[in-house]
Amino acid sequence: MPVNKGDHKVEQYIISGGSPLVGEVEICGAKNAALGILAASLMTDEPVIIENLPDVSDTNVLLQAMESIGVVVDRLSRHTVKISAGAVNSLIVESAYIKKIRASYYILGALLGKYRKASVALPGGCNIGSRPIDQHMKGFKALGASVRISHGLISTEADRLVGSHIYLDVVTVGATINIMLAASLAEGKTIIENAAKEPHVVDVANFLNSMGASIKGAGTDIIRIKGVEKLHGTTYSIIPDQIEAGTFMFAAAITRGDIMIKNVIPKHLESISAKLIEMGCEIEEFDDQLRIVAAKRLMKTHVKTLPYPGFPTDMQPQIVAALATSEGTSVVTESIFENRFRYVDELIKMGALIKVEGNSAIIEGVNRLTGALIQAPDLRAGAALVLAALAAEGESVVDDIIYIERGYEDFHIKLRSLGACIEKTDSNKDARRAVFKVS
Ligand code: EPZ
Repeated sequence: MPVNKGDHKVEQYIISGGSPLVGEVEICGAKNAALGILAASLMTDEPVIIENLPDVSDTNVLLQAMESIGVVVDRLSRHTVKISAGAVNSLIVESAYIKKIRASYYILGALLGKYRKASVALPGGCNIGSRPIDQHMKGFKALGASVRISHGLISTEADRLVGSHIYLDVVTVGATINIMLAASLAEGKTIIENAAKEPHVVDVANFLNSMGASIKGAGTDIIRIKGVEKLHGTTYSIIPDQIEAGTFMFAAAITRGDIMIKNVIPKHLESISAKLIEMGCEIEEFDDQLRIVAAKRLMKTHVKTLPYPGFPTDMQPQIVAALATSEGTSVVTESIFENRFRYVDELIKMGALIKVEGNSAIIEGVNRLTGALIQAPDLRAGAALVLAALAAEGESVVDDIIYIERGYEDFHIKLRSLGACIEKTDSNKDARRAVFKVS
């Protein structure tokens, strides 16, 4: 039986580190694109088929929330769903689950566009610092909607939605996507300036265009949207997950492995590849796959997280884990979220020498990390701790992997297929009993 810790069961990975990861791995569809696309799919009454959908808890929670307001979700296969939103019967999404995911706010933009009214429980998501939604609210208001927060709900309403010129004060993925959703069905033209340029912003725009929206400029910092009256059904395949791919690239780097990463768009991985090359890895790019070989000990580097095309904040914990065992002193600066170094204490338990000063981590590389009992504090940090454990000497137990499963499909199974000694258990008792396959 799973161990209950507060209101959730504790699942763990037990990892015996030290073997290089070698082989091939297939990357799933992008979680953060999927979240925007799923919400957008309810903006038409006609059926929409979405392919290459990752089977992770964040997307599954969003689908449950959509079902709670009358959207019909048919799973055609593990990675394909058919969404029919012709019979939405409520504009209030209050499900207990939805509070756990950040992307709940996309339902707000989607419903506001289609029905001119929506209330959604305030978004949760990973605890990586204060995560304001003022830019989303500013965007909706600029389109003519009222927005208020009360009783834990954020509600928005408009008699008419009218296109507008919106300058975002910060580069934000969430607000860029949310405004695109609502503005697609507004009257007239909307211009979003200082828009986020992430691949998943482009993917959501392409998806909306495939439903009949008119969005130009996604992928640049000015997005122009001509509102249309109605959207129609479509079949669409989600782009590969840049961050899942990047995580496996670092899995090769930290274990001195050799991995062919399949189903990727190498262009989306350029900032990650560039850093890994600086750190001494070899990278070979193909059309839709990439091979990374780490033949020797990694070298130090300095990096600052930035909006796309800069180095992604969602790869920051993974690069810190890798630099913890590299040669020399590295500095990693986090410029997007204020509290994204909470996992550093866990790396220190494994023998890492890291000091956090303000928004920078100063990392003195050690020869080898050692296995320990560590806890995943959030999704990407959790994945980074798994990478550290794969490189460490001896056994590690990674607790609270529920966070990792929000965004990585079959993480331990994929790692095992690359030769990792990793088992998943759902109780401390099982954890002690786990038997490793030693390759
Ligand atoms: C998205 O979060 C991703 N989540 C995050 O991925 C990712 O870390 C982040 O973008 C940055 O790339 C989803 O797509 C569901 P932002 P989001 O709005 O949209 C500030 C993961 O691990 N800001 O781009 O919430 C904000 O505080 C997750 O998959 C405002 O000030 O991030 C931050 O400093 C974690 N006001 C910066 O903008 C606002 O209204 C960027 O945030 C909105 C954001």
